[in-house]
Amino acid sequence: MSSLGAQYIAFEGGEGTGKSTQARVLAERVEGLVSFEPGATSLGASLRTLVLDPEQATIGARAETLMMAADRAQHLDEVVLPALAAGRHVVSDRSAYSSLAYQGGGRELGIDEVQTVNDWALGGRWPDAVVLLQLPREEARRRLDRRLDRLEQETEAFHQRVDDTFRLLAARDRQRWHTVPAGGSIEAVAAAVWDAVGHRFQP
Ligand code: TMP
Repeated sequence: MSSLGAQYIAFEGGEGTGKSTQARVLAERVEGLVSFEPGATSLGASLRTLVLDPEQATIGARAETLMMAADRAQHLDEVVLPALAAGRHVVSDRSAYSSLAYQGGGRELGIDEVQTVNDWALGGRWPDAVVLLQLPREEARRRLDRRLDRLEQETEAFHQRVDDTFRLLAARDRQRWHTVPAGGSIEAVAAAVWDAVGHRFQP
């Protein structure tokens, strides 16, 4: 296959599925830049603190969506686009697709509306490929041994809607989405991730 150029790859899934570890492992393997949302820029770090603070109980679903989108627009301008323009692959722990799942599905704003807002925030530059790490909720919860943030504290029904929306998005766009079971060792999951997206990095 001919070269696809610098790739923008996102890892998605619920909390505790190992996204940050696998994003780091893939980025190292392809000598790309590893990043994350929300919070990878200076503006984003402030937004992250605010939007995930369990004390901020009154943040509404639309404000939450716009804060995530603001973080994302800044991340795109400051981190993602400059790296891609320099020919560097970008591997991100979460992306605009998290907003479709959490705000569109979890908060029930609807996938289409949240997609419209994010399409504008991204100027249409969505990730080239998405790896959805899947783990049963009970196991993912067991892995989360730290204090839960504002979204992690949401109800089981909320998280079920998030998971269902991720599954729906993956089923709707099989060219871009790759679902990888995340229950194995770091090495085994990394090998499955490579099976799914490694061809994108062939010269
Ligand atoms: P993290 O724990 O993966 O860093 O993500 C922080 C939380 O923010 C997590 O509960 C998922 C949530 N989130 C959204 O609700 N919408 C988004 O667009 C993003 C990127 C994350």
